[in-house]
Amino acid sequence: MKTYQIAVIPGDGIGPEVMREAVKVLNAVSALDGGFNFEFTEYPWGCEYYLKTGEMMPEDGLERLKGSDAILLGAVGYPGVPDHISLRGLLLKLRRGFDQYVNLRPVKLLEGAPCPLKNAGPEDIDMIFVRENSEGEYSGQGAWLYPDSPQEIVIQDAVFSRKGCERVIRYAYELARREGKTLTSISKGNALNYSMVFWDQVFEEVGRDYPDVETQSLLVDAAAMFMIKNPKRFQVVVTSNLFGDILTDLGASISGGMGLAAGANLDPERRYPSMFEPIHGSAPRMAGKGIANPLASIWAAGQLLDHLGYPQWYTRIVDTIEKMLKENNGLTKDLGGSASTSACGDAFVAMLSDRI
Ligand code: NAI
Ligand code: MG
Repeated sequence: MKTYQIAVIPGDGIGPEVMREAVKVLNAVSALDGGFNFEFTEYPWGCEYYLKTGEMMPEDGLERLKGSDAILLGAVGYPGVPDHISLRGLLLKLRRGFDQYVNLRPVKLLEGAPCPLKNAGPEDIDMIFVRENSEGEYSGQGAWLYPDSPQEIVIQDAVFSRKGCERVIRYAYELARREGKTLTSISKGNALNYSMVFWDQVFEEVGRDYPDVETQSLLVDAAAMFMIKNPKRFQVVVTSNLFGDILTDLGASISGGMGLAAGANLDPERRYPSMFEPIHGSAPRMAGKGIANPLASIWAAGQLLDHLGYPQWYTRIVDTIEKMLKENNGLTKDLGGSASTSACGDAFVAMLSDRI
């Protein structure tokens, strides 16, 4: 029996609440499968830890996680700690420290999930975002000159390296080829005359190795419009760190909401552990009430199983979420139900087991 070491960082706000359900589901999956199990190690890092120690995670944090097979993350951020400190001190440190350069975010409308678009159904909204996750607009480079003076100048640099662009774009082409899907690149070359012109150029260059993959290139503003007006246009999508961040929240809102949106931070070369998380934040106003939707975290746990080599369990997890939605069974308030976070997790496990 294979035992996987999973590092668990519940984090802040609703993070620990939704994380409990993701762990519950992974244990249920290993019991049903019988071929593998999990050993979970919990790390109490986050805003509370910061208020006690002055750091979001210990200095040797990456070292301590390095031997894990994967990392599960809840959410980071809480009033009392500035968001740029909490996000950069934990989430971005892990993504960058472990070179998780692909952020894979499905935007898939399941049957029964609420959708604010009038004429769109599950057959219209089925995309997968490949977001650059290691550099770009989130590289954290810049300067703050002459603070608090009339000459104050703030510079936030975006960093686009050839290696950084090529590898994420190549990953997206490979994915599109493997799945027989079209590939859309989203950029903004008309206004960002260095970074995005370069991005477009690399997209074209890498594309020469994939003449079989049908592509389109869109400007980010047009892409935002088309995601609403004609979401069917999109299958595999590759884009920069910032644009991917924004467009996948838009994607979440047309595919059932933040409570259903999952993301995987991948090191495709598997030099380091990859990290799986709901894309939502810590929702401080919901925290402690037991009402947060755990299905995004559970979906992310499915991505973890896929990454470990069990795509059949990924499919089964997504199918089970869809079954809950169709049968309106065990859903939390954001999806029109009245179940608590843990009751939703329990209902999920019951339905997952049912299908044997
Ligand atoms: P948020 O994602 O926490 O909440 C946005 C909205 O979505 C709220 O209306 C919330 O009630 C709803 N929502 C989120 N998760 C939900 C769930 N599981 N079930 C039902 N409804 C859910 O984003 P917000 O409010 O902008 O940020 C709150 C904190 O989280 C901030 O400190 C922010 O920096 C942090 N954050 C952390 C992220 C991460 O850890 N990956 C990502 C985004 C924000
Ligand atoms: Mg975001």
